[in-house]
Amino acid sequence: MKSIHRIPVVLLAALTLLTACERPPVESTQVGFRGMNMADIQNPRAEMGETGYPAALPPASSSGPKAGEVYQNVQVLGDLSVAEFTRLMTSITAWVSPEEGCNYCHNPANLASDDIYTKVVSRRMIQMNQHINSEWQDHVGANGVNCYTCHRGKNVPEYIWFSQGDSGDGNRHFMGWLNGQNQPGEDIGLTSMPQDVFTHYLTSTDAPTVRLASLQPGVDEPSPGTKNAEKTYALMVNWSQSLGVNCTYCHYTGSFQDWENSSPYRITAHYGLNMVRGLNAEYLIPLEGEYPDYRLGPHEGDAPKAYCATCHQGQKKPLGGADAISAYPSLAE
Ligand code: HEC
Ligand code: HEC
Ligand code: HEC
Ligand code: HEC
Repeated sequence: MKSIHRIPVVLLAALTLLTACERPPVESTQVGFRGMNMADIQNPRAEMGETGYPAALPPASSSGPKAGEVYQNVQVLGDLSVAEFTRLMTSITAWVSPEEGCNYCHNPANLASDDIYTKVVSRRMIQMNQHINSEWQDHVGANGVNCYTCHRGKNVPEYIWFSQGDSGDGNRHFMGWLNGQNQPGEDIGLTSMPQDVFTHYLTSTDAPTVRLASLQPGVDEPSPGTKNAEKTYALMVNWSQSLGVNCTYCHYTGSFQDWENSSPYRITAHYGLNMVRGLNAEYLIPLEGEYPDYRLGPHEGDAPKAYCATCHQGQKKPLGGADAISAYPSLAE
């Protein structure tokens, strides 16, 4: 009698424990046509809290002499007035090196000097920001990005990636080549799929397309091959993780490849893919020679690179959709 009585109690306890992981209500927003089961599923309690985005400084006067006339070594921001220039330097410090201050990039005895590598890197970062905000509005919209979008008050953004090299792969010509697999990777949801899909897909503007199956095999393009299936899925898991969304935020699961029935966010993601490829190929990879060795990749000595998480950091819109550029138009030229 007693033991029968106990079972439901144990069951109840187990149920409580299990449901406690995803306690309702979970918000579900329809993102595709009706009846296609395309939804963005979010647990409001798991949403990221405060992003710590510092308030924009009050605008500075654009009159008076230009920075390019007054200072000795201003190659990118020369058209700003001295007041605007100083305001931007102050904001950059808050975004990238709040603890170290101006001297993280400057030799205090000579602000014009390019001796410190962080200043050289920053100049290129300013150009990269201008490129993102002016050339990639299809992706970043009117909100755009500034240094804080990636850096969040840190010298090095929290989400960067390096080549995994052939580490742990043994000799790829003999048995034991792992193809970068079977080592649960944090970037791909701790699955054992190939980890270093970023080198494959994100380092060049003519990188391989993200295809699993062609809609017209052998007609419109060569077959992508089964080995790419795992790479594709690994990349997709990373995207879902980076944005904090399910596959159905972008895809109709009845046909993953079908663009017509995908959500509009998939198109935004497609622009994002091409943008990231360009950022790595044209800005971040060429900076390799500027960094000290300890900033380079542990396996191949490659430059630190960006992917979706570098900006998104677990949110559909970085910084929860904060306006990052209207107060800093010089970062959008
Ligand atoms: C994260 C790096 C970084 C930080 C921090 C930084 N700067 Fe700069 N600074 C730069 C870069 C890059 C340039 C060159 C810009 C260009 O070429 O258009 C520059 C140029 C300057 C110049 C022009 C010097 C000359 O004669 O050419 C002055 C003045 C200056 N910064 C002041 C400051 C002050 C004051 C602070 C702190 C409030 C500061 N900077 C913080 C990166 C930084
Ligand atoms: C798209 C994301 C992104 C944006 C936007 C961005 N950065 Fe970076 N930044 C990176 C990445 C990636 C690195 C390489 C990380 C490393 O050094 O290990 C980096 C490195 C740096 C470094 C070198 C830090 C170090 O200690 O080695 C400086 C300085 C820097 N960025 C300044 C800036 C400034 C200033 C801005 C705004 C004008 C900016 N960044 C905007 C992604 C970004
Ligand atoms: C943020 C939007 C987004 C999310 C989330 C997303 N995908 Fe994708 N997916 C895309 C885009 C965009 C492409 C095509 C890449 C390109 O632009 O060439 C793609 C391509 C694919 C393909 C290849 C289709 C073909 O043409 O052969 C598969 C399969 C796929 N995704 C599966 C998934 C799975 C599984 C998930 C969840 C783990 C997922 N995707 C999450 C946007 C997304
Ligand atoms: C340089 C920073 C940056 C990078 C890198 C980046 N994004 Fe974005 N993304 C943004 C910004 C900013 C927005 C918000 C645009 C807006 O407010 O309209 C955005 C918006 C989106 C949206 C639309 C979200 C919505 O709900 O409207 C999707 C989907 C997306 N990004 C996918 C991706 C994917 C996939 C990648 C990687 C391949 C990526 N992004 C890389 C900055 C970035």
